[in-house]
Amino acid sequence: MEIIIRSSPEEAATTVADVVEPYVRRGNTVLGLATGSSPVAAYGELARRHREDGLDFASLSTFLLDEYIGLPEGHPETYFAVIRRDFVDHVNLDPQRVHSPNGNSDDVFGEGARYDAAIRAAGGVDVQFLGIGTDGHLGFNEPTSSLSSRTRVKTLTDRTRKDNARFFDSEADVPRHVLTQGLGTILEARHLVMVATGSAKASAIAKAVEGPLSAFCPASVMQLHPHCTVVLDEAAAAELTLTDYYKSVVANKPPQQPW
Ligand code: GLP
Repeated sequence: MEIIIRSSPEEAATTVADVVEPYVRRGNTVLGLATGSSPVAAYGELARRHREDGLDFASLSTFLLDEYIGLPEGHPETYFAVIRRDFVDHVNLDPQRVHSPNGNSDDVFGEGARYDAAIRAAGGVDVQFLGIGTDGHLGFNEPTSSLSSRTRVKTLTDRTRKDNARFFDSEADVPRHVLTQGLGTILEARHLVMVATGSAKASAIAKAVEGPLSAFCPASVMQLHPHCTVVLDEAAAAELTLTDYYKSVVANKPPQQPW
């Protein structure tokens, strides 16, 4: 795991864009997208590079991590709508190749297996954006999610529904059920790129990065992944203990070593 600590959320976003950009330039990449506020600034920076430097997304496919169940089609807070607003509408991705779990499927319990098969058929995710919940959730894999889980229906904790109430008129409007890529599904992506900023994430980040591998902190599953980059601002890094080491690794990174 490579832990990169930047002095501001803006610098963290630039670093995330720097990590992802080579995958976009390579072409035919399968990009794993995440919603939530954490990756929004990095999406903005990638969109700026598209606008100003011609960074070309035309050959890419994307798969979203998760989706609410039961929000009416066209609801502005479906992750289908959010990812378009935050990213897809600002770059030249082919809308036909922007995939998300269908939270309105007639067969919502069969949707997970279909979604995992679609990811596999596309060749698997090359680089996966990730945020982290204050309870350590990854996607919508809440504490005690199986570390080898596949895409499936999950029930949100009250804490996550409270955290996400800011996007809805009231907490009661936040759906209780969701579809999320499983932790096992996420681990199959070839490169995980997590971004977390702000003090509200400091405790979850410390548990995920330095705590024991545990289903009680689902994001700790990143410790099993062979290529995982965690980009933080100082506030999100505040409860880590080995900070000086992480900073010296980045400062002394061999010049030719890719992120
Ligand atoms: C949400 C999403 C996650 C996201 C996390 C943190 O509920 N399902 O994918 O990483 O919670 O959200 P935010 O980045 O807004 O803090």
